[in-house]
Amino acid sequence: NEVKKIAVIAGDGIGPEVVAEAEKVLKRTEELFGHKFETEHALFGGIAIDERGTPLPDDTLAICKASDAVLLGAVGGPKWDNNSKELRPETGLLGIRKALGLFSNIRPAVIFDCLKEASTLKPEVLEGTDLIVVRELTGGIYFGEKFRRETENGQEAVDTCVYNVSEIERIARQAFEIALTRSKKLTSVDKANVLETSRLWRETVIRISADYPDVELDHVLVDNCAMQLLRRPSSFDVIVTENMFGDILSDEAAMLTGSIGMLSSASLGEGSFGLYEPVHGSAPDIAGQGISNPIATILSVALMFRLTFGYHEAAASIERAVKNVLDAGHRTGDIAVDKSSAIGTTAMGDLIVAAMSK
Ligand code: NAD
Ligand code: IPM
Ligand code: MN
Repeated sequence: NEVKKIAVIAGDGIGPEVVAEAEKVLKRTEELFGHKFETEHALFGGIAIDERGTPLPDDTLAICKASDAVLLGAVGGPKWDNNSKELRPETGLLGIRKALGLFSNIRPAVIFDCLKEASTLKPEVLEGTDLIVVRELTGGIYFGEKFRRETENGQEAVDTCVYNVSEIERIARQAFEIALTRSKKLTSVDKANVLETSRLWRETVIRISADYPDVELDHVLVDNCAMQLLRRPSSFDVIVTENMFGDILSDEAAMLTGSIGMLSSASLGEGSFGLYEPVHGSAPDIAGQGISNPIATILSVALMFRLTFGYHEAAASIERAVKNVLDAGHRTGDIAVDKSSAIGTTAMGDLIVAAMSK
């Protein structure tokens, strides 16, 4: 049994808390399934700024590159919010995604039946919802030229949104491939009524669709999509969209599941290497209290097993354990209807580990 190398970059705020629970799951997987993991911890984000003067130290990137997969917590916090661009945790996050070629960010919104009450939406609206947001991750307005300049009317700030055809083609292909493994429905989301990048996006997605005749493709404008996600979420299957729209729509989709603390993600490039992280951030408002929900990070490990290692049984074991623990009524505060009965981060992690089985 081959040893898999996993770079662990816990980051800031609740990052270390939720990653610690995910590491317990890795250990339990070794015991149950005989897989072998070698983890290496590295500094990243705000803590790396404090200790090393940069959010993404060279050796952290080198450790990631020498690994089969990366497990990431979250970065950022008020301490670094007024820093210049180079000294921001978020700049490190964009940098690591770019440096590792992770252009495709997969964010599944899985509804656990027993959590329907935790969502702010009516249970009958959620019925049958099971969707995936495929977010382009290394292009668009996040990576276009940004600068400030002085004008007659005072200072001006510029962010440019750029996409080239090959960037759109590769994410479109990934999304079509994912759609083929599901109900063969793909919704491409853009703002083609206004943005030139969106018009190129739509043309390119349509051209690529010729290679996927079995997939039913439709196009929805992003404002309408934001509305439809709340109105009839079950009508979506795979959504493919550009970087910033995907960022926003996936946080919105998180509320279908009950909490952003439930949403896992995989960031992939062309090969099997992947970076796995919860969709949520460092949650400074609850950091250090031991009350954060570790499930998004734990489910990200299941994604790692499926998409990078092909450990489908171990992945299923994690997903089953999460479902069983939730079915038994255990809740962290974010998904608890009765907040007084909520359990903490480590208690939730321990229950999931204990529920794992072959
Ligand atoms: P956030 O996702 O950190 O938090 C939003 C809200 O959700 C907060 O009320 C928080 O308490 C709650 N929440 C988030 N995760 C939770 C969990 N696991 N369990 C329970 N509750 C949870 O978003 P924000 O407040 O806008 O951002 C905070 C910081 O995180 C910022 O510095 C931001 O840049 C950064 N951020 C980082 C990432 C990342 O590392 N991938 C993602 C998003 C935001
Ligand atoms: C996410 C986060 C990041 C993003 C920020 C922190 C740079 O919101 O991973 O969703 O916008 O991509
Ligand atoms: Mn986000």
